Amino acid sequence: MQRINKSDIKAQYCGMSNYKNRIDQPLLKWYAEQYQGTFDLRNVDEILEVGCGDGSLWKYIVNGTTFTPHVVITDFTELMLAACKENLSALHLNADYQTADIDTLPFSPETFNAVLAHKVIYHAENPTESIAGIQRILKKNGFFGLSVLNFKKGAPLKRMEDCISTSAVLSKIYSEEFNLSILSEEINLSILLLLLIIISL
Ligand SMILES: C[S@@+](CC[C@H](N)C(=O)[O-])C[C@H]1O[C@@H](n2cnc3c(N)ncnc32)[C@H](O)[C@@H]1O
Repeated sequence: MQRINKSDIKAQYCGMSNYKNRIDQPLLKWYAEQYQGTFDLRNVDEILEVGCGDGSLWKYIVNGTTFTPHVVITDFTELMLAACKENLSALHLNADYQTADIDTLPFSPETFNAVLAHKVIYHAENPTESIAGIQRILKKNGFFGLSVLNFKKGAPLKRMEDCISTSAVLSKIYSEEFNLSILSEEINLSILLLLLIIISL
């Protein structure tokens, strides 16, 4: 099991300048494009996002259209959540914003049609349990969008795949290489792989 220090993580996300070093807009746009070809988020009732950051992903999902599903947008820190709410105010989403820890998501089984968790699973104390927890709160034939940064080619993605119950996976799709413009020079990160999964319980 990974040793996670929650106070350290909160400190990492204690300011927007720090956060802006960790997001990449073309990547968020790409997630939204992959959803479009996979699972129509517009036609469902309930969507959860875990670890929303400043919520920019929703701008690409909504993309100027009418978007009516109820969305529950969550993050570990109050600061990120407040920034997200402000960032998304013009979208007029049917949204609830609440703090939630990926390790202890406070939702009933089979609540959501889709759960989105991008670049957050490696903050979980036990990714296997967190992923199983997300699978539990998904409705039957729910959609699970999960992505990880791939610091060492293939290794983190492989770990995530190992956490997912393969019997639950209907299809698992996309991986792609990205040059992350913001981070690449600073920490020499150049590759990102994305995993999207549709599960049936
Ligand atoms: C790297 S950012 C990713 C933000 C956004 N999902 C994206 O793809 O741009 C990670 C986010 O997860 C949040 N986070 C960190 N630990 C978490 C946890 N245990 N549970 C939920 N969210 C967490 C952070 O506050 C931060 O907003």
